[in-house]
Amino acid sequence: MTTRRRFTLTQYLIEQRRRFPSASGDFNALLLDVALACKAIARSVAFGDLGSVLGHPTPEVATSVNVQGEVQKKMDVISNEYFTQMTEWGGHLAGMASEEMDEPYQIPETLQRGKYMLVFDPLDGSSNIDVNVTVGSIFSVLRAPQDVIDSGRDVVAADFYQPGTQQLAAGYALYGPTTMLVLTVGNGVAGFTLDPNLGQFMLTHPDIQIPVDTHEFAINASNARFWEAPVKRYVDECLAGKPGPRAKDFNMRWIASMVAEAHRILMRGGVFLYPRDTKDSSKPGRLRLLYEANPIGMIMEQAGGRASTGEVPMLGVQPTSLHQRIGLVFGSKNEVERIERYHAEPVEVELHNPLFAERSLFRD
Ligand code: AHG
Ligand code: MN
Ligand code: MN
Repeated sequence: MTTRRRFTLTQYLIEQRRRFPSASGDFNALLLDVALACKAIARSVAFGDLGSVLGHPTPEVATSVNVQGEVQKKMDVISNEYFTQMTEWGGHLAGMASEEMDEPYQIPETLQRGKYMLVFDPLDGSSNIDVNVTVGSIFSVLRAPQDVIDSGRDVVAADFYQPGTQQLAAGYALYGPTTMLVLTVGNGVAGFTLDPNLGQFMLTHPDIQIPVDTHEFAINASNARFWEAPVKRYVDECLAGKPGPRAKDFNMRWIASMVAEAHRILMRGGVFLYPRDTKDSSKPGRLRLLYEANPIGMIMEQAGGRASTGEVPMLGVQPTSLHQRIGLVFGSKNEVERIERYHAEPVEVELHNPLFAERSLFRD
């Protein structure tokens, strides 16, 4: 039997670093620490109820409500700890921010501090954890502001308010039938599959490209009555199928793990929408800018897709708070551009949307 030569994640990162001969290796070391955290989470998730780490609260691991008012599942808390513990020691980080921590995480004074900041959603789709459906982790690497690097001071929330264009790397791990790591360091998108025998992420998807067209969309249709008119128009046109204005039939998917939807779209195209809606005026969208929309946005753009608020490119948005929510549309480029066009064409909306008479219901 001849074995196929495959690159490990480490080898891939070394190859990528050759583009920057003066790089210190800190960046790669940080990404390998993140990958280790993801492997640890993958193992925990894989034990399911045998490991008693699933959603039900137990005395050993405190469950609470996070800053966004969501009940933290045990695995949310455990995953958060894996991220902080596996990455704080290396000396590469100035600080971290996470969905599960109200305030930025400080690297303990006993450890060395570095020039990067890590932002993450340790477990995305965690409402799926108890039903054995794919979940994942999402992360983004930013450079710390220069005064943080120079002084080694504690990080504050405002240090993380950097638009997505500033991200140095972004990625996600997927805990599904196989564990995968999908990564961009700003030079395309590569996918790695965890070889459980070796405990190594192996390069299996060297240059992921998203088809520009699609006939598959993902949206939580139970929110339809809260959608803004351009979103309603887009979905109505998809549902109208072949006889409708799009002249083709569409298929629909909704996993409720955004990271799993992102992966499906990377693999075969599609469009995902969790748009701003009028369900709760205190929440302009469901998903979070810094650790969901921006990293997934960078991956989409690096794979030839597009990510948007529905109106403007996601990666250009200036963040104003750590746990800021935002409308998110991403996937096949031509579909995302179409949705942006619908938002920019109020007159078209009036002409095409049969529900225009109800428009005042959708708007503040
Ligand atoms: P998280 O588990 O990190 O809070 O994120 C869950 C998100 C996302 O993964 C998914 O797309 C969305 O919530 C599902 O929302 P609905 O329950 O409204 O469908
Ligand atoms: Mn999430
Ligand atoms: Mn989460």
